[in-house]
Amino acid sequence: MTLHITKPKAPERQTTLTHEHDIDDQSHIPILSNKVVNVASVPQRSPLRYPGGKTWLIPQIRNWLISLSPRPTIFIEPFAGGAVASLTAVMERFVDRAILGEKDPELANFWRCIFEDGETLARRVERFTPSPDDVRREFEREPTNGLDAAFQTLLKNRVNRGGIIAKGASRMNRGENGNGIASRWYAKTIAERIRAISRCASRFECVEGDGIELIGSTQDSAEAAYFIDPPYTVAGKRAGTRLYNFNEIDHESLFDHTAMVQGPFMMTYDENPDVIEMATNRHFHLAKVAMKNTHHAIMYELLITSGELNP
Ligand SMILES: C[S@@+](CC[C@H](N)C(=O)[O-])C[C@H]1O[C@@H](n2cnc3c(N)ncnc32)[C@H](O)[C@@H]1O
Repeated sequence: MTLHITKPKAPERQTTLTHEHDIDDQSHIPILSNKVVNVASVPQRSPLRYPGGKTWLIPQIRNWLISLSPRPTIFIEPFAGGAVASLTAVMERFVDRAILGEKDPELANFWRCIFEDGETLARRVERFTPSPDDVRREFEREPTNGLDAAFQTLLKNRVNRGGIIAKGASRMNRGENGNGIASRWYAKTIAERIRAISRCASRFECVEGDGIELIGSTQDSAEAAYFIDPPYTVAGKRAGTRLYNFNEIDHESLFDHTAMVQGPFMMTYDENPDVIEMATNRHFHLAKVAMKNTHHAIMYELLITSGELNP
């Protein structure tokens, strides 16, 4: 018996440009915005100061969500990290609920704890004063349960350089403005953020596992919108390696799976010729937005979307 396997056809995407954009002379990619967003002007909702966090992209994410018709009911963030986009989408009611996908078990546990018992974690945050000795003692202890582990994850994120929780990350010495290890432990603010998320906990779910699989298992939902911010390491420049415990993903496969989703999507990547090629081969839409990197240099991030973005 011969088996004929037909690969399902990817949904057709419109590729025409109907709005006026500035165009990058070299790459011919529309520039959506040359203005760097002041992150202080955007509500900070994540308790984590996560490396690669997308707070600066919130205005563009909002514009995109507003433009979607029909309104998506589910927001899927397969590489959640600090989950800035999901928190915004749900808490500003652009969608009814969000699914966070995250491969790092430590981070997935952190989100599950907030969704299951954020109040207990918030109280623990308020009780803790991070002197160097207290921090050291805290990390010498084996966590006794999920909530204890979530507290350690949060503490690590707040006292490590760059908010990095990956193995091998180092502690801050001088801290913010020379204020030492406690300089980013804003107990009241962090506890408030946890409580605010906890109040809408029934609208969040965290799925621990591979983001590409999450996209595959939800691809037929026309009600879903995807925000896809994968770890990305340019060949030869392994800057991403130390940021996360999980860095290696098959980007071709991610693009193939993304091509199959029924609902709208937005992906974000560093500007890179390989990425541009993967996107153009699949007739995805490309745009660039200005941002500041960790060294405060202005650079551009690529937004890859299912439809054209409005300036
Ligand atoms: C660029 S960060 C996401 C940052 C996030 N957008 C934010 O605003 O904080 C990428 C995240 O993907 C996670 N990750 C890495 N490989 C993964 C995989 N195969 N599946 C799901 N998550 C993965 C990393 O642990 C990291 O948290």
